[in-house]
Amino acid sequence: MNAASESLPWLPAPLVGDLVREHGSPLYVYHEPTLRARCREVALMMPGRDFHPSVSIKTNGNPTLLAIARQEGLRGDAMSPGEILLLERAGFRSDEIFFIPNNVSREELVFAHERGILTSLDSLDQVRLAADVFAGGEVALRINPLVGDGHHGKVVTAGARVKFGILPSEVPQALEILAAGRVSVAGLNQHIGSGFLTAERYLEAANALLEVCRGVPSARFADFGGGFGIGYGGETRLDLSAVGAGLSCLLADWERETGRSLRAQVEPGRYVFAECGAILGTVHAIKERVGIHVAGCDIGFNVLQRPVLYDSYHHIDLVPQEVSDRPLVDVQWVGNICESGDILGHDRKCPLPKVGDHLVVRDAGAYGWAMSSSYNARPRAAEVLLAGDGSVRTIRRRETWEDLLSALP
Ligand SMILES: Cc1ncc(COP(=O)(O)O)c(C=O)c1O
Repeated sequence: MNAASESLPWLPAPLVGDLVREHGSPLYVYHEPTLRARCREVALMMPGRDFHPSVSIKTNGNPTLLAIARQEGLRGDAMSPGEILLLERAGFRSDEIFFIPNNVSREELVFAHERGILTSLDSLDQVRLAADVFAGGEVALRINPLVGDGHHGKVVTAGARVKFGILPSEVPQALEILAAGRVSVAGLNQHIGSGFLTAERYLEAANALLEVCRGVPSARFADFGGGFGIGYGGETRLDLSAVGAGLSCLLADWERETGRSLRAQVEPGRYVFAECGAILGTVHAIKERVGIHVAGCDIGFNVLQRPVLYDSYHHIDLVPQEVSDRPLVDVQWVGNICESGDILGHDRKCPLPKVGDHLVVRDAGAYGWAMSSSYNARPRAAEVLLAGDGSVRTIRRRETWEDLLSALP
């Protein structure tokens, strides 16, 4: 736990107070230069290759931020029609959107087909549906390469016991079903999991995907997925240049052996958005319980789910109202949701918080607002964007009680 003097370089302590005074608490804040820097790293992962990087917008669907990612050369991946609408709002064209749903209705496939958006299929049953919906057209197939990775069991998305994808052994049957509908396969995609910090398993799975591509003569691209991890607890983030170099080697071998060429695609979300976002909150009550100070604030799991869902660590900075020597104590950070599991941070050494102090939760730009909810009937937080010149603009207003009531009869 850092005191104010060690706060995020782009979020100095006086600015925290100013932002909360002007925009309220809790508040999501994004730093545009950091977002642009991460986008550029992804865009430059495989120089000299036919390469289409996308951002996976399940991590952050704010159209202002997505438009910045697009300016920096990224396409967009959507998991639902709603995410397609967000990408369209951000200015993405149909040919810049890849739809990767699972277990969807015919209507959702028709939604993408009518817009000319390339769609990936995740099971033989969805292939059967698509053979009709996309008759005479093209689709992609999501492969489960049986190699997974991730920061938590709940985010490992490939492997024998995982719900996602078509197994390599099922591909011939998928091709047969699609051929009957005159549907061709434009490419194969996969996503093995989220938040890994080393490239070994990603490259192992990439190799497995390329093996499957050999048996799909119409495939023009291989999308190796996202999952690139960042250091929430100070670890070094995944080395993208090593991933890019590894993929380039595998592709060069494959192209030499097959005499074909393939476009490479990746689809990270967390890597693009996590570090450019922080949540500002306010301390409302302190209790002492068996030697621990329980600091109650307004960042419950309605605002940030990751700690409760995955036991995830997020660095928390205290921003005191006044600069004074405070004793270092053990703090448990909790929110204002009516659940005893509403814990934002366990056992953090920290200067003693006081009512009225602010806190900054770091690395909250990915799976932050996007996973937030109105649980306990709390309106969702506002989002603001901090530009490189220091200007601040609201990119999503705070929800109101009227918003909460608006869908009711
Ligand atoms: C299909 C797919 N692609 C990309 C991603 C992005 O993953 P990450 O945010 O870890 O890069 C996900 C997330 O689970 C996903 O399901």
